[in-house]
Amino acid sequence: MKSVGTKEIKTKRLVLRPFRMDDAMQAYKNYGSDEKVNQYISFAPCFSLESTQKFIQMHLDQYESNPDFYGWAITLDDEVIGSIGLFNVEGHQCELGYSLGSKWWGLGYATEAALAVKGYAFDEIKAHRMYASHHIDNLASGNVLQKIGMVYEGTLRDGQENPDGSYSDLKLYSVLSSDVI
Ligand SMILES: CC(C)(COP(=O)(O)OP(=O)(O)OC[C@H]1O[C@@H](n2cnc3c(N)ncnc32)[C@H](O)[C@@H]1OP(=O)(O)O)[C@@H](O)C(=O)NCCC(=O)NCCS
Repeated sequence: MKSVGTKEIKTKRLVLRPFRMDDAMQAYKNYGSDEKVNQYISFAPCFSLESTQKFIQMHLDQYESNPDFYGWAITLDDEVIGSIGLFNVEGHQCELGYSLGSKWWGLGYATEAALAVKGYAFDEIKAHRMYASHHIDNLASGNVLQKIGMVYEGTLRDGQENPDGSYSDLKLYSVLSSDVI
């Protein structure tokens, strides 16, 4: 794979761009503090303004020092409405993850952002495999993955530990560069 860092991506309606420290309040307000957003994820990095600042500082440090780090703010008309990234970038593969404030759900934005990042993973980074998993009850996330052409591979039993100490099954999806037409 190539190490190309987090470069801005424009889609029809969105701009995916590196985070800036002055995004902290919007990121916290628009999705970090949104209970609906945090319902199915094991850890909510932007649950407070302070944790959002730490999350963004981590991004700024990684942008500087790690060309294999891929984390974007999802922006609509210059407003930060979510985040998307490629994690566990190792060998020939990487993992897709995203969050969007509930005010903007159901409008196709996650699909649009995920499709763009899939293109980046294959065309820029030259990954061979991109995978993603979601909480078994998180139907919207499963729909996003299917809509961008990912294939269901199986269920990871108790693959996620929840904040209350319980476990949830995760559904695993992937797409290969050779799947892309
Ligand atoms: C998952 C998430 C990113 C989806 O965002 P979104 O912008 O609403 O997704 P889209 O509008 O692109 O919708 C994708 C599909 O899912 C469907 N969908 C949306 N919400 C749904 C729901 N609650 N149940 C079932 N399907 C749903 C949409 O209708 C759409 O399909 P369609 O075009 O055939 O109608 C958003 O719900 C979110 O941020 N959730 C919280 C964080 C999270 O779960 N992240 C993923 C961790 S794996």
